[in-house]
Amino acid sequence: MTNNTIIRFEHVTKQYDQDPPVLKDVSFEIERGKFYTLLGPSGCGKTTILRLIAGFTEPTKGKIYFNGKIVNDVPANKRQVNTVFQDYALFPHLNVFENIAFGLRIKKMKNAEIEKRVKETLRFVNLAGYENREITEMSGGQRQRVAIARAIVNEPEVILLDEPLSALDLKLRTEMQYELRELQRRLGITFIFVTHDQEEALAMSDEIFVLNKGKIQQSGTPTDIYDEPINRFVADFIGESNIIPGKMIRDFLVEFAGKQFECVDQGFNDNEPVEIVIRPEDLEITKREQGKLQVKVDSQLFRGVHYEICCYDEAGNEWLVHSTKKAVVGEEIGLYFESEDIHVMRFGETEEEFDKRLEAYQEVGHGK
Ligand SMILES: Nc1ncnc2c1ncn2[C@@H]1O[C@H](COP(=O)(O)OP(=O)(O)OP(=O)(O)O)[C@@H](O)[C@H]1O
Ligand SMILES: [Mg+2]
Repeated sequence: MTNNTIIRFEHVTKQYDQDPPVLKDVSFEIERGKFYTLLGPSGCGKTTILRLIAGFTEPTKGKIYFNGKIVNDVPANKRQVNTVFQDYALFPHLNVFENIAFGLRIKKMKNAEIEKRVKETLRFVNLAGYENREITEMSGGQRQRVAIARAIVNEPEVILLDEPLSALDLKLRTEMQYELRELQRRLGITFIFVTHDQEEALAMSDEIFVLNKGKIQQSGTPTDIYDEPINRFVADFIGESNIIPGKMIRDFLVEFAGKQFECVDQGFNDNEPVEIVIRPEDLEITKREQGKLQVKVDSQLFRGVHYEICCYDEAGNEWLVHSTKKAVVGEEIGLYFESEDIHVMRFGETEEEFDKRLEAYQEVGHGK
């Protein structure tokens, strides 16, 4: 644990009643001042993690640390955490000022101080002058900002945001993504943001935890996760991809689509069956004989910025290509890619197994 660690989960399992656990042996660390995103499909346990951090529920097994102290039994109101809920949970009968002041009044803060803090916070979220508006007279985006103001006015160490943008239309949602990210940078408070939208996660986060079925599949920066997914779930969930069965012949040599290719991957067993990922935007269209792979164009769609071209190789694998060049349906073309664009994944590998494999490999003196 570094000095910068603010929250730490150690082998946390959460089980409701007699049901199977919804979180299974989850461990991670959250550092101060960063923007984190929990990303995963519905029901994977994202809200449960937030509830455990906020203190609305207790872990069945394992330990949760806050600033180095175990907080398993510490109630929500004694934690330096505030939550922004999906539906904002604002009080409809209170105006903007009183919604934001609510937490401070409970703390019995003096009126003059409350006035000062609320006004400052309103300026911060670009709502100066809206103090006396009724909540019901505010737009979706403005309510969103009131909900955030209500969280930051308490000056918590951590803000939890549970899909706070999902009720907004696409344009406003993109604007708010930008604003939230800016706000987090200015405040320097740790944000833990939940979404099931991978583009949102990639755009906003310092670190992403990809979750599935109560387990963290992979954690890392957006580029780590996008460029080096460690298993099929992550590769699939993080964006459109070509996932092709293959075989690792030996270090730096992989076979797929009936051919062998140089690659940058190592640490697998010789002849181990693997899965290959190549991103559609990493494939370049060439003349048939100039490509590393030969494919036949099956269909093509114009997507505004690029063409989405679907092709098949002789082994029957489907290849999706994003290209600014147009192809001709029915024609045979070549696909070119660099060795670094081939990502090799072991079947169903977890993050722990992935780390162990690389460590073991480097320990016995291999690697570059
Ligand atoms: N209070 C509860 N009692 C029993 N089961 C629960 C309770 N809360 C959540 N669960 C179950 O735990 C699992 C994880 O739920 P959670 O709300 O954490 O998912 P989520 O990732 O936030 O999903 P979504 O994206 O749909 O909000 C689900 O199967 C859910 O049915
Ligand atoms: Mg949820």
